[in-house]
Amino acid sequence: MEADTPEPVLELAGIRKSFGDIPVLRDVRLRLYPGEIHALMGQNGAGKSTLIKVLTGVLASSGGEMRLSGRAIRPGSPLEAQQLGISTVYQEVNLCPNLSVAENIFAGRYPRKGLAQGGRIDWAMVHQRARELLSRIGLDIDVTRLLSSYPVAVQQLVAIARALGVSAKVLILDEPTSSLDDEEVGKLFEVLRRLRAEGLAIVFVSHFLNQVYAVSDRITVLRNGQWVGEWRASELGPQALITAMLGRELAAQAARPEAPPVFDDAPGALLQAEGLAQAGQLQPLDLRVRAGEIVGIAGLLGAGRTELARLLFGMELSDRGVLRIDGQAVRFSDPVDAIAHGIAMCPEERKSDGIVADLSVRENIALALQARMGLKRFLSHAEQVAMAERFVAALGIKTASIETPIGLLSGGNQQKAVIARWLATEPRLLILDEPTRGIDVAAKQEIMEQILRLAQAGMAVVFISSEMSEVVRVAHRIVVLRDRRKVGELPGGSTEDAVYDMIAAA
Ligand SMILES: Nc1ncnc2c1ncn2[C@@H]1O[C@H](COP(=O)(O)OP(=O)(O)OP(=O)(O)O)[C@@H](O)[C@H]1O
Ligand SMILES: [Mg+2]
Repeated sequence: MEADTPEPVLELAGIRKSFGDIPVLRDVRLRLYPGEIHALMGQNGAGKSTLIKVLTGVLASSGGEMRLSGRAIRPGSPLEAQQLGISTVYQEVNLCPNLSVAENIFAGRYPRKGLAQGGRIDWAMVHQRARELLSRIGLDIDVTRLLSSYPVAVQQLVAIARALGVSAKVLILDEPTSSLDDEEVGKLFEVLRRLRAEGLAIVFVSHFLNQVYAVSDRITVLRNGQWVGEWRASELGPQALITAMLGRELAAQAARPEAPPVFDDAPGALLQAEGLAQAGQLQPLDLRVRAGEIVGIAGLLGAGRTELARLLFGMELSDRGVLRIDGQAVRFSDPVDAIAHGIAMCPEERKSDGIVADLSVRENIALALQARMGLKRFLSHAEQVAMAERFVAALGIKTASIETPIGLLSGGNQQKAVIARWLATEPRLLILDEPTRGIDVAAKQEIMEQILRLAQAGMAVVFISSEMSEVVRVAHRIVVLRDRRKVGELPGGSTEDAVYDMIAAA
């Protein structure tokens, strides 16, 4: 980015937004210059997604000004915003896995032939234009294949291609990297840098600080719906950034060191897998998890972490090996069996397996515990309230009330509620698959503390995360996977490098 580019391409000032009488944005500003990548930062619920929705015409603002290339604008819909040159990939990507890549790029705006565009869809044109758009971001794939036949990273790039109209001046990406591994993030960043070089202004939202520093030129921080400041990335260190996001007091708390993970080498096992395997999914693997122990599962995307979790939870059937609970061989044919043995799992895909958008925060948190108790006994309203309030406080879930429909919470706060749901069941063994995805730095700390506390009380935990720093921080023991097989174990407190070395050496 040029240090003194005179004219911002987009300028927002005094933006306000309230839902009912709850202000969510108060006097927010944002300046974007052509050819820059601008990180929009803030805690879960700070107002990032809401600001983006106001800017792109999904929501009407309650006040303020927006100027694009100096002209006042007020987009009334995402389509209108896109026609003005503002393209967006929202936090919840809404692509259709069972349509082709080309159909996903053009759905709702197919090029047609004849009868002044009213005629049939011109498929040859659709495919050709889709290929052109993808080649602009360096992607050469078969556009007639189903979107679901490609990895998430490719799907993410397809979403960008869909968003990029020919005349895009501004590209907005709300947490585009939360389901990508390091290598895929690298590829995405290459695409962003290429678009930056073409003069686009790019807004990037992420809770991964290292990514923010890797790719952005400038940073704007929001806190509680308020504008805190704008800095050049090179002039705002990570600690100062965290302080800007959390405020001084919380930032000091988030930096609090934890007790180093130690676990005495007690014999016995709550769960023991011997040569457990599933053809094509996971090579035979041994695993032991004791009561009170946190076992971290480390590996790159595709290493087999989620496959392992699904086998342990009875979502997939093993075709080899033995699984024992308390020394007794068991065979889970579905999750109900696993749950009956005191196992719970917080799944990776919160949107499909996770929240029930129309139910309240309270009901969403109570869901799993009620399901486990079955029809024999119902949680009373008072019990549900007490439980929900306890977790809202413990995990800092930002919600107007526990009766608010969970769909109205910010992405990260929905995720916290899903985790609360599984913590509330107080299982004997809890499997957490990517629990901190999309969660801000302070909330990560709170979730880690809850996990440690429950482990101290005797719960066994299988902790899966793509963030190696988290795995090494929280686990008593680290199981390392690569290419769908176990390559070794490391003691808790090992360095991230030790894990990477083990993966590389395998
Ligand atoms: N339709 C709505 N009705 C009521 N409140 C809402 C609505 N949409 C968002 N909010 C509230 O606005 C606040 C800001 O939410 P927003 O989604 O903008 O946060 P965010 O900064 O994107 O957080 P995250 O990092 O978790 O994605 C939250 O407290 C949220 O509950
Ligand atoms: Mg958001």
